[in-house]
Amino acid sequence: MSVKRTPLVAGNWKMYKTIAEARQLVPDLVQGLSKVGGVEKVICPPFTSLMAVKALLEGTDIKLGAQNLYWEKEGAFTGEISPKMIAELCQFVILGHSERRTYFGETDETVNRKVRAALEVGLIPIVCIGETLAENEEGKTQSVIHRQVQAGLSGIQLQPDNSGDVPLVIAYEPVWAIGTGKAATGEFANRVVQEMIRPTLSMLFGDQVAKSVRVLYGGSVKANNAAEFFDQSDIDGALVGGASLKAEEFIGIVKAAAESLE
Ligand code: 13P
Repeated sequence: MSVKRTPLVAGNWKMYKTIAEARQLVPDLVQGLSKVGGVEKVICPPFTSLMAVKALLEGTDIKLGAQNLYWEKEGAFTGEISPKMIAELCQFVILGHSERRTYFGETDETVNRKVRAALEVGLIPIVCIGETLAENEEGKTQSVIHRQVQAGLSGIQLQPDNSGDVPLVIAYEPVWAIGTGKAATGEFANRVVQEMIRPTLSMLFGDQVAKSVRVLYGGSVKANNAAEFFDQSDIDGALVGGASLKAEEFIGIVKAAAESLE
């Protein structure tokens, strides 16, 4: 049975934009994105801007995501933010981004704890995976991707709901393509999704779930190269960093996703 996956374009603002700056950007995004249908749109500002951005998104179809959470329900964990606190504001949460793995010591095991905690409160995790340049050059892409998916998602239950949606998104972000201006080719990224990510999902959750999970590409996606990814059979959207900070660029990427449906 073939499955229809709704394209999703998410903007990861990383550690950019104060509240004041967010208040300048979001109205432009709302204006440009409100005319684009058929694509799920998510913006993921830093924690400090979530409330302000949520207010600005009221009445629009743009959804909100956070960039991290801590897995404990509550407690003496100075500086951390719980799943429930995020769920009060957001529908999505980015987990296991390569910058968190590289600079903040996140591992497949901690990512797994976060994924479980997010699902428990009804958040949709956007789980980031991807090989480094060295791993890619050493021919280890397949084993790294397999390990990250398997360990990151171990012990979770996933079922498509009545509309066929699965509450989990994967973002394939080859580390060498992030912030470098050197995007993967659409053909390469599609091959990773088709031959490595979905087969591992199928092994874990069965074929139906593997076909229903949306898999995004991330890494130097811009308005002028986005179509190359959206035209691929197994790529369902993009996780956008730098280009999500510029209204025109992000709107251009979402439009490219909508055009790929035509
Ligand atoms: P860039 O789009 O800036 O390469 O960042 C990609 C990314 O890390 C999104 O999570």
